[in-house]
Amino acid sequence: MVHYIRFLQPPRVTRSKKDGIHALLSTLLTITTDLGDAFYPGDSCVHCAIFNGTTMRSLGMARWMPGMRVMKIEAKVPLDFLRLRARFLFTCNELFEIDALQIERLPNIISAWTEEFSHLDDLDSDTTVRRFRVPDGRALEICEENGDSMARHIWDGGVVLAAWLMDWTESGQGRDIPFTVLELGTGCGTVGLAFGIRSDCRLLLTDVDDDALTYARQNARRSQDTFNSVWECVALDWSEPGRLKLDRPLDFIIASECIYNPDSIPDLVRTMSSLVRQSNGLKEGSPPPQIIVSTKVRHSSEAAFFDLMKQSNYDAKQHISVPIPDQYRGSIGQDLEVVHIYIFEKHIESVSSGEK
Ligand SMILES: C[S@@+](CC[C@H](N)C(=O)[O-])C[C@H]1O[C@@H](n2cnc3c(N)ncnc32)[C@H](O)[C@@H]1O
Repeated sequence: MVHYIRFLQPPRVTRSKKDGIHALLSTLLTITTDLGDAFYPGDSCVHCAIFNGTTMRSLGMARWMPGMRVMKIEAKVPLDFLRLRARFLFTCNELFEIDALQIERLPNIISAWTEEFSHLDDLDSDTTVRRFRVPDGRALEICEENGDSMARHIWDGGVVLAAWLMDWTESGQGRDIPFTVLELGTGCGTVGLAFGIRSDCRLLLTDVDDDALTYARQNARRSQDTFNSVWECVALDWSEPGRLKLDRPLDFIIASECIYNPDSIPDLVRTMSSLVRQSNGLKEGSPPPQIIVSTKVRHSSEAAFFDLMKQSNYDAKQHISVPIPDQYRGSIGQDLEVVHIYIFEKHIESVSSGEK
């Protein structure tokens, strides 16, 4: 299970009257799963650093012990460092490396960054930034909301699919370049934006939650300097799929961690079918869109999604199981949890008189 460093009390910096060269950083952290339903059960050091421009200064570390639920961090920050734009990093990586977005190198515990700030008063208290290094060295930055929103934070299934996409060797044969990619239930945009870094494409990031789209939009703006993909964030509710009118065929439809709610599965499948139908109608002879779905199975009721996809004539052409890094489970000999990635294509039904 991937774990995430989260701010319970966001980092704050106060100036000391006695000490003219340092300020005091304080924060309350926890290390939990994506759902926040379990704390990190192992032992790990959390290191804290400040970055300004290209310079990094380690501010110290604290030890997370089995059974802990919360951890207080206090550290002295050299005032010199606060003269330029700066940001704090809390990480279990003792080398302060940016978390790798690659299946083989995904971290056990995902680091937490603050936004950059110019003045102490600007230190944002509502968000956490996740920064990932993609294989060619570029960084993907995903800002998420502190708190319990389902839509406005990142998920194991999204992180793993984003990492998997980096090594995916789809050549796009028979498809027009750049690809057109539509993401359903994008949340903060993790997977869609990872696709946009992997290959230049036209991205349509969709969600029902306006606030999630605000995060996706901000995250896409951050990525603008990193990639050449063009993007748009669009409201789409799976209960009204016909409201989205495509103006070009789709190459890929992606959905990560979207099948956890059995009540919305029929609408989700109808939305996928509606988009494939619209897309196929826009350019005869072009290959139908592939649908890429990732899930870390949370409930047996998710099986309904696969039944409905089958009934709607979608075949899973590929099923990849990606074990989630977990030093703790590994150390006690427990099986690793898995994110499942499926690639569906519309099955062309044959009838006795020939092809439909
Ligand atoms: C668990 S989050 C996953 C977010 C993102 N895909 C990820 O992996 O990080 C599920 C997403 O589906 C969206 N969603 C749920 N029901 C929806 C609906 N009826 N129509 C459109 N989006 C919906 C939520 O707003 C949320 O962003």
